[in-house]
Amino acid sequence: MSFESLDYAPADPILGLSEAFEADTNPDKINLGIGVYKDAAGVVPVLNCVKEAEKRLLEAGASKSYLPMQGSALYGEVVQALLFGDGAEPVTAGRVATAQTPGGTGALRVAGDYLHTMHPQASVWLPNPTWANHPSIFDAAGVPTQKYPYLDSENNSVAFDAMLEALAAAAAGDVVLLHGCCQNPTGADLSLEQWQALGQCLVDAGLIPLVDLAYQGFAEGVEEDAGGLRVLGGLCPEMFVCSSFSKNLSVYNERVGALSVVGATADSVQRAFSHVKLRIRTNYSNPPAHGGAIVTTVMSDASLREQWLDELRAMRERINGVRRLLVDALHERNVPRDFSYLAAQRGMFSFSGLTTEQVRRLKDEFSIYVVGSGRINVAGLTETNLGRVADAMASVLIA
Ligand code: LMR
Repeated sequence: MSFESLDYAPADPILGLSEAFEADTNPDKINLGIGVYKDAAGVVPVLNCVKEAEKRLLEAGASKSYLPMQGSALYGEVVQALLFGDGAEPVTAGRVATAQTPGGTGALRVAGDYLHTMHPQASVWLPNPTWANHPSIFDAAGVPTQKYPYLDSENNSVAFDAMLEALAAAAAGDVVLLHGCCQNPTGADLSLEQWQALGQCLVDAGLIPLVDLAYQGFAEGVEEDAGGLRVLGGLCPEMFVCSSFSKNLSVYNERVGALSVVGATADSVQRAFSHVKLRIRTNYSNPPAHGGAIVTTVMSDASLREQWLDELRAMRERINGVRRLLVDALHERNVPRDFSYLAAQRGMFSFSGLTTEQVRRLKDEFSIYVVGSGRINVAGLTETNLGRVADAMASVLIA
C-alpha cells in the first residue's frame, strides 16, 4: 500500500464548496451553498429553547454511559409524534420503530445498509434532481439507484405525470425516495392530492416509500409539513422515514437524526428493526446522546416546545421574506427572466436556473458561492447581502 500513487478524491459538491469558501480571502464573500439557516445578522443561531434545554441538561448532570443501539426510547417517541401526529394509528398500533441516528445522513446510511443486507434485490429510486449526497450514500452502501423525473423546469413545478409514469417501471419491492417537504434542491413540493395519488400508485405497484424529512416546519408548519408523510402512512403498509432536527432546531453539529421503520404489524416491524440494530452496531455502535437529549428536553416541556414553535415560525417567515425581496431585487435590475416562482417555493432552497458557467462567474468574480447545479440557499440571504447577490446575478445573467 502506498498513498503516493493515489489521486485526490473529487471535492464534495456541497461541503467542498464550504471548504473553498473558507479559503477565499475576500471579506465580502457570501456562502449560499450549504443548507444552513442564517438569521438577519448572517449568523447560524442557537435557538433560545436549545440554550435553556442545555442549561437544564448541564444542571441535571446525566450519565454519559452508552445509549442502546437504537438510542433513547423517549427520543423515539418524540420523533414518532412529530412525524405521524399525536395518537396516530401507526404509532399506537406499535407499527413504528425508531432509531436515533447521527443526523439525517446517518439515518439514510443505516437504511441503505439495511436494504443492501436484507433486500439486496431492491433498487432505490431517487428524484431527479435530488440532494447531491443521496446517490453517494446508497452507492456507498452498495444499493443500486435509479432516477425518476421530478422537476418540470419549464413551469418550475413538479413533473407529476412524468414521475408517476417512470415509477410504473419500478419492480415490486423497490424503494422510492421522496422529500417530505421543501424538496432539496428545487423547493417544489407535491400537493396533498398528489401525495394521495402517489401513495395509491406505490401501493398498487408494491413499492416502498422512503421519506426524507429534513425540513419539517420550514414550509408551512410542523403539522402541515408532515402532511404528505401522513398520507403515505395511511396507505402504505411499510415505509422508511429519515428525519433530522439539524435545521428545525438549528442543531446542525450535534448530528440529531432518526430512522423510523413502519411495518404492517407490530411483530413485522420488530423483525426488520432487529436487523436495523445490527447495522447500527457494526457502523457506529450507538448514537451520540447530547443532541437527542436537547430534543427530548425541548419537546417534553410545554413552554419550551411553544418557544421552539415560535422560533421556528420566525425562521420560516424570514426565509419567505427574503424570497420576496430577492424576486423584487432581480426585477428592479431588469434581469431577462421571470424569477417570481422563487417566492412561491418552499424551504431553504431554490433552483436559480443559472448555468454552470454563470455559477462559476458568481464565485470567481463576486465570491458568491452557490451549488454547481444552480441551487441557492435562500436562507443564507440577509437584507445586508441581498443587494450584492442581486447585482451579481444580474451581472452574470445580462452580460
Ligand atoms: C445541504 O443540502 O446543503 C444540507 O443538507 C447540508 C449537507 O450536508 O449537504
